[in-house]
Amino acid sequence: MKSNRILLTIFSLIIIAVLITGCGGTSSKKTKIGLSFSDFATERWKREADQMTQLLEAKGYEVVVQEANHDVKLQNDQIDNMVAQGVKGLIVIAEDGDAAVTSVDKAAKAGVIVVAYDRLIKTSSIAAYLSFNNVEVGRQEALGVMTALGIPGSATWTKDNPAKIVLSGGSPTDNNAILVRQGQMEVIQPYLDQGIIKVVADQWVDNWDAATAEKMMENILTAQQNKIDGVIASNDGTALGELQAMKAQGLAGNVPISGQDATADGCNSIVKGEQTVSVYKDIRLLTPMAVDLLDSLLKGQKVADLEQFTLAELTNDTSKTGNVQALFLPVQQVTKDNVYELIVKSGFQPYDDVYRDIPESQRPPKP
Ligand code: BGC
Repeated sequence: MKSNRILLTIFSLIIIAVLITGCGGTSSKKTKIGLSFSDFATERWKREADQMTQLLEAKGYEVVVQEANHDVKLQNDQIDNMVAQGVKGLIVIAEDGDAAVTSVDKAAKAGVIVVAYDRLIKTSSIAAYLSFNNVEVGRQEALGVMTALGIPGSATWTKDNPAKIVLSGGSPTDNNAILVRQGQMEVIQPYLDQGIIKVVADQWVDNWDAATAEKMMENILTAQQNKIDGVIASNDGTALGELQAMKAQGLAGNVPISGQDATADGCNSIVKGEQTVSVYKDIRLLTPMAVDLLDSLLKGQKVADLEQFTLAELTNDTSKTGNVQALFLPVQQVTKDNVYELIVKSGFQPYDDVYRDIPESQRPPKP
């Protein structure tokens, strides 16, 4: 009798321990989500990692964040590892939209829901692709530089004296860099055809790396004997690198240059009159969209607002087959004229960062 009671007590204690630790039962275990970032070098990614983590944790998920420091193989290994750890969903910012296919296909095969975030991963095994209108980003960059040069309309630029333009693309392994260039070309092609502008250098910046961009611009300036009239750069990071090289030759502020992301440093350069134009992409909207989408997909709920695209049309590569569901948020051009309203007043970048080193008397009021 007594031994029976002891056994019952031991049994009850084991049950309580199992319930407390969650071992053996799935009910108290949190679903794991993996976030895979190409790098944290560009300002936006860390901010988005933090916001995603916060939103996912608020929904009761456990979050694992990995950053690959631009290493394509490392990113694939990190994705494989997260799948081995049992993540049920992945949000991936791919360093290389082709290379990531290997690990993403494996993850999808294992039943993991993969969302390609901001950058396309070129496989139809992704559950969705969420980004901004990247072609429009390129159009706004080129338009900003053309407008600053007075094109169309200026009598300065003729067939005999075309504006000398530098094209600086992003990382060639990032599909966004290709889409951005497509938009830039749409805008400048008519002026190239008319002969009023001329491309004197056409390059791409590996990893979107600012130091690489600076070196590249140094070489271009040497080769062109500093005679350039405009730079269509593809993001703020690379534009600021290039501005370093231009500054050393007295060209910063005299030669228009574009970027994107409306980074704190980019906007500061705009108010100082060095960077001419950036493109605002409100990541504060994209991040919750990705989180909500993943959450719905994991719960087997229907998701609205996604549109079907072929991989061929999203990559401008007819050899790519299959479809993906995608959504693209709109973008806006940022210049000296609207940076305060669009970026500072909306709280996208802090006032003190944007107006850093600007004398108090020349600053607008604090919002
Ligand atoms: C993003 C840009 C970013 C760049 C470098 C692109 O894929 O769309 O916002 O500046 O990568 O990280």
